[in-house]
Amino acid sequence: MTKEAKENEEAVQASTEGKAEKGLTAEEIAKEFKEHSVAEFFKKNMQMLGLTGKIKTLTTIVHEYTTNSLDACEEAKILPDIEIQIKELGEEYYEVTAKDNGPGLTKETVGKALGKILAGTKFHRMVQMRGQQGIGASGVTMLSQITTGKVVQVITGTGKGKPISLDITIDPKNNEPKIANLTEVNKDFKGTMIRAKFKGVKYVNSEQAPLEYLRRTAIANPHAQITLIEPSGEKIVFKRTHRDIPARPMEMKPHPKGVKVDEMVTLAKYSSERKVSSFLKGNFDRLGDKAIEELVKAVHFDLNKDPKHLSWEEAEEVVNQFRKMDFIAPRTDGLIPIGEAQIRKSLESIVKPEFISVVTRKPSVYSGGFPFQIEAGIAYGGEAGRMGETNEEGQQLRKIEIMRFANRAPLLFDTGGCAITKAVQSIDWKRYGMKDYENAPLTIFVNLISVHIPYTSAGKQAISDEEEIMEELRLAMMDTGRKIYTFIGHQRRQAEKEAKRRMYYKYATEVAIAVAELTHRNKKEIEEELHALVLKHLKMEEQKEKQAEPKGEMSEEEIEKEYEKRMEREKKEKEKKGKKGKKAAVGAEEE
Ligand SMILES: Nc1ncnc2c1ncn2[C@@H]1O[C@H](COP(=O)(O)OP(=O)(O)OP(=O)(O)O)[C@@H](O)[C@H]1O
Ligand SMILES: [Mg+2]
Repeated sequence: MTKEAKENEEAVQASTEGKAEKGLTAEEIAKEFKEHSVAEFFKKNMQMLGLTGKIKTLTTIVHEYTTNSLDACEEAKILPDIEIQIKELGEEYYEVTAKDNGPGLTKETVGKALGKILAGTKFHRMVQMRGQQGIGASGVTMLSQITTGKVVQVITGTGKGKPISLDITIDPKNNEPKIANLTEVNKDFKGTMIRAKFKGVKYVNSEQAPLEYLRRTAIANPHAQITLIEPSGEKIVFKRTHRDIPARPMEMKPHPKGVKVDEMVTLAKYSSERKVSSFLKGNFDRLGDKAIEELVKAVHFDLNKDPKHLSWEEAEEVVNQFRKMDFIAPRTDGLIPIGEAQIRKSLESIVKPEFISVVTRKPSVYSGGFPFQIEAGIAYGGEAGRMGETNEEGQQLRKIEIMRFANRAPLLFDTGGCAITKAVQSIDWKRYGMKDYENAPLTIFVNLISVHIPYTSAGKQAISDEEEIMEELRLAMMDTGRKIYTFIGHQRRQAEKEAKRRMYYKYATEVAIAVAELTHRNKKEIEEELHALVLKHLKMEEQKEKQAEPKGEMSEEEIEKEYEKRMEREKKEKEKKGKKGKKAAVGAEEE
């Protein structure tokens, strides 16, 4: 035995000879064995719901209430009118009131909707909605309770009978709502109003604050009217830019290729069908008689058995067989995109760029069974991008801004971990005419819609980089990038052409003077002839370049139109500035 090994053995012996602390027995450890409710778990782990950090928490609260209001209005086909009021009650102590004109909540569900974690109308359905877990609003109720000890006040009306007013808290031990002061309200009100207080939060005006969150919500939801009343009392209204209520997203069935064994067993347990075969046909997308015939031959049990008695092994056999079988791709018609025209209009009114390019990719499927679709827009120039540094000439430079959305809800946090950011970063933007894309006047808008958004965490702030999603995101970026490339190229050529023209005209004047002297001809006439020659030469050069340039998806005509629009805008702005300048000068004189 080596010296080292001997010392080690002695040390182990010493520690077990009662000198050191004794280990616990299984029985002793078992005394500490306790069960916890999901509410207790989240009470301890609020950060998992995105409820962490003073600013982020307040934005997440606004996010949870706003997404719920938008979802409810969409289901009820109501044009949303949402008002968020934030009041400062003390240091890092705020009250948030969220009011909507949605369908309201019934007396039976209101308590559970806002006071029971993992309860709601969305978790169990494959439908494109902003919420999907049943923890958003109830998580916020829990936060209010643990930071202030106060109740969440609710007034809700469904349009049938009188609206009700009540106070809600959560009993964390049992994950059940506690309701107090339930009364009827003698006023007409349809919708939901929630008022809750929070400590340890802060209202600021930053890129991750409620105002920016609501600005982006308005961009992706141009049919919604959204009002924010800031702690200062200032009221900011994002007006709806159109009055078409989006189509109600359709509920979809799971696709056989994407189903997991556990899901199959659960669905079977709650099925009202008498036979496994009819249960499969009724509960899965694209599963018809032919598939059942194939399945009958492949599995080792009778598909006429009661689905309630489907064992794990049998479900596993079906799932494995599904993997080998051919099915038509999942239905994707239940997805409702914002639409190119609306995205364009929103970006135009809020970002005021020089050029916009928008694409809607065809719906696709990830993980074998979840339909999704990407919509993307790139706005270039004007007020696109974020404010950057000021250059030596005092010019305010702009930086890239990536606006990420999932089912029309803005994602402001966990930027680096999100598939959208990764897709943008993976593109070689130099190929699209942008030498330094991070410092370009660019707003990149991406909305991922799906019946199930694969978030990276329960905080719902970043999308996981599923292979198929990444692929579609990249294609969307390339599609929009190509159009931008053509526009930037055109813009650059126009500027170069103008510089050349000026230079040639300058020489033309000098040449005209000399030639006039030599030939005794009129100087102006010579100058005009030379100008015409210059223009002819430039046109020929342009045509040569046009033949050499790669074909973009936009026609020259479209680009020309965009360019003209830009020139018109610049002219107007110059005129405006000129007028302002004159006014200021007059004012100065008067003083
Ligand atoms: N303003 C509202 N109007 C009508 N129903 C609402 C409103 N807010 C919440 N609900 C109901 O309460 C349920 C629970 O809301 P909650 O935010 O906790 O979960 P969710 O929206 O289903 O999913 P997520 O956890 O992803 O937000 C919702 O599913 C919805 O049925
Ligand atoms: Mg929600």
